[in-house]
Amino acid sequence: MKHHFDQPLRPQFHFTPASNWLNDPNGMVYYDGEYHLFYQHHPGSSVWGPMHWGHAVSTDLAHWEHFPIALYPDHNGTIFSGSAVVDWNDTSGFFDGRAGLVAIYTQTETIPGSDLSKQRQSVAYSKDNGRTWIPYEGNPVLADERFADFRDPKVFWHAGTEQWIMVLAAGDRLFLYRSPDLLAWTFASEFGAREGSHDGVWECPDLFELPVEGGEGASKWVMIVSIGDDSGCPEGSRTQYFTGEFDGVAFTNDNPADTVLWLDHGRDNYAGVSWSDAPGLESERLFIGWMNNWKYANLIPTSGWRGAMTLARKLTLRQTTEGVRLVQMPVDGVRQLRQSGSEWQNERIGPESGLLCAHRGGLLELEADFEPGTASEFGIKLLAGGKETVVGYDAVAGELFIDRSNSGVIDFHAEFGCRHAAPLKAEDGRIKLQLWLDRSSVEVFADEGGLVMTDQLFPPAGWDGVELYAIGGEALLRTLRLYPLRSIYAP
Ligand code: FRU
Repeated sequence: MKHHFDQPLRPQFHFTPASNWLNDPNGMVYYDGEYHLFYQHHPGSSVWGPMHWGHAVSTDLAHWEHFPIALYPDHNGTIFSGSAVVDWNDTSGFFDGRAGLVAIYTQTETIPGSDLSKQRQSVAYSKDNGRTWIPYEGNPVLADERFADFRDPKVFWHAGTEQWIMVLAAGDRLFLYRSPDLLAWTFASEFGAREGSHDGVWECPDLFELPVEGGEGASKWVMIVSIGDDSGCPEGSRTQYFTGEFDGVAFTNDNPADTVLWLDHGRDNYAGVSWSDAPGLESERLFIGWMNNWKYANLIPTSGWRGAMTLARKLTLRQTTEGVRLVQMPVDGVRQLRQSGSEWQNERIGPESGLLCAHRGGLLELEADFEPGTASEFGIKLLAGGKETVVGYDAVAGELFIDRSNSGVIDFHAEFGCRHAAPLKAEDGRIKLQLWLDRSSVEVFADEGGLVMTDQLFPPAGWDGVELYAIGGEALLRTLRLYPLRSIYAP
């Protein structure tokens, strides 16, 4: 029998639900050797509907075991996005003095006879390593009827002031609260009404501290905010971030209010947040995003399931000449999927002399190191049944781009077939790209993770291989390493 997950457009090394709908990652927490991933899930259909928290567990952030639904809608409403923490010292009193897991999430209740809904924050706890959850009887724990959009609480322990901090989205801004016990929340401050991009409603914030590489022992706080697709702009839903300071009460932005920093320059990385309590927190944050875009999320051409996560990624901070910037790389756990690779060196790539690496079926990791030479444009074509997706560098404009306008199935939404670009300077005369190609996505990490593009692609009959190209002159390929990847479902 064909494996349940072995379908033409079903990712083979990205998390997807066993069936039906998935959106945001929720409640990511590491506890007792396990990485938990909860997610926005509609178990009754492959389009968005009454939200539940689906659940999966991993020990390496590459392979996932599916668990039963963790949270069901109840009298307080459906279960929207939120976070989870380890309550090490039983501040909540749920765990008889021991440690346990607490989830904090939004419940959305529709007001009968109207289009309006109420969004309030609730709490649930687990005494059995996240296997079963008990909603707190005093729910909801936080309400503010002034806002129709009041959601997506992200909670963490602030060691400096010894209290829990919650950041959540309230319309066009973020509210911060504090609490001694995860149950009683006091307003602390707000952020963002006039900062960054307001192209859409603010959703799914995160706030954490990271050391700055090359920044002489300094650290910064990073505020992540996803912005919804309600502006009509071509990008649809996207995620921005701010860097600054946090003193236990308020976040202050380091940059001028009109500076906008994007976490990913592709079209399909939304609503991502980081893991609580993960090992290595002093130097990096583990992050995962929903590899989709509200513009067309309900329409992507899959059947029986819909929605995938990005690769889990390590976030770090780097001091650059432009300021402190987020850097992303895939987690080490996905490296074990590499099979024995092939390598090319010092190949001239010109208009007549592409380099073809046929590899039926895709599932590839590719590392390419180019010198632009005299080419005006060069890069990598992902070939599929006469269609192609181009991951290229426009040396004239100094931009990395993905062109998926001829990538395969694109007709489910007028704006899916597109080309999009982001500025990228050659470092020491080199353009270095790392690409991860799954059955229906590509993730491109350029500049050692300083620039990332994540895109869904729907090749109608699978990948045929990749081809290198250059136009307007010759580019030099210093090295190319190509590793076929093993499916996470392989025995
Ligand atoms: C973001 C989001 C959240 C909300 C959830 C509902 O994609 O809109 O703000 O909690 O999805 O599924």
